Amino acid sequence: MGRVGVMMSANGYHIPVMASEVCSWLELIPEGIYVDATFGGGGYSEALLKTAPGCQVLAIDQDPDVLPLAQKLKEKYPDRFDFIQGNFSQLDTLIPYHQHGHIQGIVFDLGVSSHQVDHGSRGFSFQKEGPLDMRMSQQGQTVGDLIETASEGHIADILYHYGQEFRARKIARRIVENRNKSSITSTLELRRIIHSAVGKKVGKIDSATKSFQAFRIYVNDECFALKSALEQVLGLLAPKGRVVIVSFHSLEDGIVKTFFKESDSKKGQGFLEVLTKRVITPSEEEIQNNPRARSARLRAASRTLVPFSSVHKEGDQ
Ligand SMILES: C[S@@+](CC[C@H](N)C(=O)[O-])C[C@H]1O[C@@H](n2cnc3c(N)ncnc32)[C@H](O)[C@@H]1O
Repeated sequence: MGRVGVMMSANGYHIPVMASEVCSWLELIPEGIYVDATFGGGGYSEALLKTAPGCQVLAIDQDPDVLPLAQKLKEKYPDRFDFIQGNFSQLDTLIPYHQHGHIQGIVFDLGVSSHQVDHGSRGFSFQKEGPLDMRMSQQGQTVGDLIETASEGHIADILYHYGQEFRARKIARRIVENRNKSSITSTLELRRIIHSAVGKKVGKIDSATKSFQAFRIYVNDECFALKSALEQVLGLLAPKGRVVIVSFHSLEDGIVKTFFKESDSKKGQGFLEVLTKRVITPSEEEIQNNPRARSARLRAASRTLVPFSSVHKEGDQ
């Protein structure tokens, strides 16, 4: 099986991070069935399809913007690739029931894609003018809705818990003072308000960074989605099947680390053998070529033979 080049962004949607490492930690087998739980620009899906000729890839993403790319990949690999739009918190129902227990590998590349960040209209970036949106699925409550209606205390809690922002109360107070005068509707407006509360920078970092991260994690319910997906992975993987997770901030990595510890064959319930004793980070070369890779953290584990009986909801077949 061939090695995959690190820079594979033919479509300009997203440069895959640690694609070679992902393929090698998945220990691909030619006829395996793999799940790419975060399709994005399709970089991992394509890497898997190319590296393990004969394998099947089932890809998931909640963002309808990926549909044209998924369609293109389907045309290229009609018998080996399928795409399902949905939230990976519902892996159990998204993946056909007859494949449960037969998946050789599942990969998660958490967070947002470059496409989502770079398109101001999606509202993820404090560097681009756009509406206060930040919904990956393009459905449900926007950050604008949240800021308009949440109490000052709730806003402060979100900033503190999901952004680890120690000046959460100051920022929340300033947001509420401003919204009482007129609605806060744009990304740059929110950034100005945060700057007016706590200054423009913390060292070299824009002081809106943590708040934007916190609002994004909250409106997309990212921690819940990750926790529930990881739990479901145990019932989906074949014995010796692998799960590989690339995360980009300490909250996500903490969830993965705790889950691995609890499921570990030596210290926990015995469902997983943890393969990465220490977290794996990208090479200096990759970071130079793709600065967005710099905070990536990869962890991998292998399913043991210990049976896992997930509780299926009524209506599941
Ligand atoms: C970092 S990008 C993945 C990039 C991809 N690995 C590639 O090489 O192009 C993350 C993608 O996961 C999707 N995503 C994040 N959370 C999700 C969830 N809970 N359910 C489904 N998709 C999710 C986002 O919409 C985004 O497209």
